[in-house]
Amino acid sequence: MITSFRNHPAKVRPVKTENERRMEAGWIFFSATDQLVKAEYKHFSFPALKHCNNNPIFGHDMSKEITPYAGNESKKEQVASMFNNISKTYDFLNHFLSLGIDVLWRKKAIKELLSIRPRKILDVATGTGDFAFEAIQILQPEKVIGVDISEGMLEVAKKKINKRNLSAIFSVQLGDSEGLPFEDNTFDAITVAFGVRNYENLERGLADMLRVLKPEGKIVILEFSKPQAFPVKQAYNFYFNYVTPFFGQLFSKDKRAYSYLPESVVAFPDGAAFTALMEQVGYKNTKHRSLTFGISAIYTGIK
Ligand SMILES: C[S@@+](CC[C@H](N)C(=O)[O-])C[C@H]1O[C@@H](n2cnc3c(N)ncnc32)[C@H](O)[C@@H]1O
Repeated sequence: MITSFRNHPAKVRPVKTENERRMEAGWIFFSATDQLVKAEYKHFSFPALKHCNNNPIFGHDMSKEITPYAGNESKKEQVASMFNNISKTYDFLNHFLSLGIDVLWRKKAIKELLSIRPRKILDVATGTGDFAFEAIQILQPEKVIGVDISEGMLEVAKKKINKRNLSAIFSVQLGDSEGLPFEDNTFDAITVAFGVRNYENLERGLADMLRVLKPEGKIVILEFSKPQAFPVKQAYNFYFNYVTPFFGQLFSKDKRAYSYLPESVVAFPDGAAFTALMEQVGYKNTKHRSLTFGISAIYTGIK
């Protein structure tokens, strides 16, 4: 499979194996030959970003296969609708289903910014604001702006901001990671928790975040990843494929939201593949750090 991948440029694809079909769909890391594909990916010289965005293999156009619903809307519209649907139960389910570990992950991720003490932070895919609240508590910045494509999630965030008397420091607004409503070089730091997996076009999202980051500014991304070791991998697959959708459906009333979750994690290029992508987009000094047996990971990079 790898040989044929090497020998055929993107447009000449005579016979598609199952893995190639998955790669086209952006599921590059799905297969049993995971490690081999990752190795190949690391050594591949990517085309320029503008080509990336249109390239079905390297554009990471995650919209093609893994969408929340079956309708004709774009992935972005579907993701926004899905989070609107689950916004009221999101916080409860988040902590319940992660057994509270998500709080520790957020703290660890935000501490990656202690070394630069950012004054102005952008929290992309801010949702109900939990990552930003953590940043405010740990880093005491002057200003945090949260953007998200889901009005429902932002409504919950606004209530929490008011309740905590944080409106002077933290404001939220509608905004898309792939076309952020800010000038170039605006923020000292950018944070994203459990957001990038949902982007319609990963490179475009990463590139626009890089654009609004100040030179020497730092990005911290927290995202689910795929544990590899026995028996964590098996337990994780069972939990994500059966337990999470069961409780998700029970409490959120959106049947699809919590079965989309494991699918979107599977489709996401995690670990070294993600830092390779960050480097390709233009981030420097990228690092990744595995959390809780590889269930999630922290990614950092500098502009
Ligand atoms: C799983 S929630 C995470 C929310 C929050 N960061 C947290 O840690 O709880 C993912 C959020 O990403 C948002 N999102 C997805 N794609 C986005 C995009 N292209 N631009 C901005 N937000 C996006 C969704 O609307 C949703 O609120």
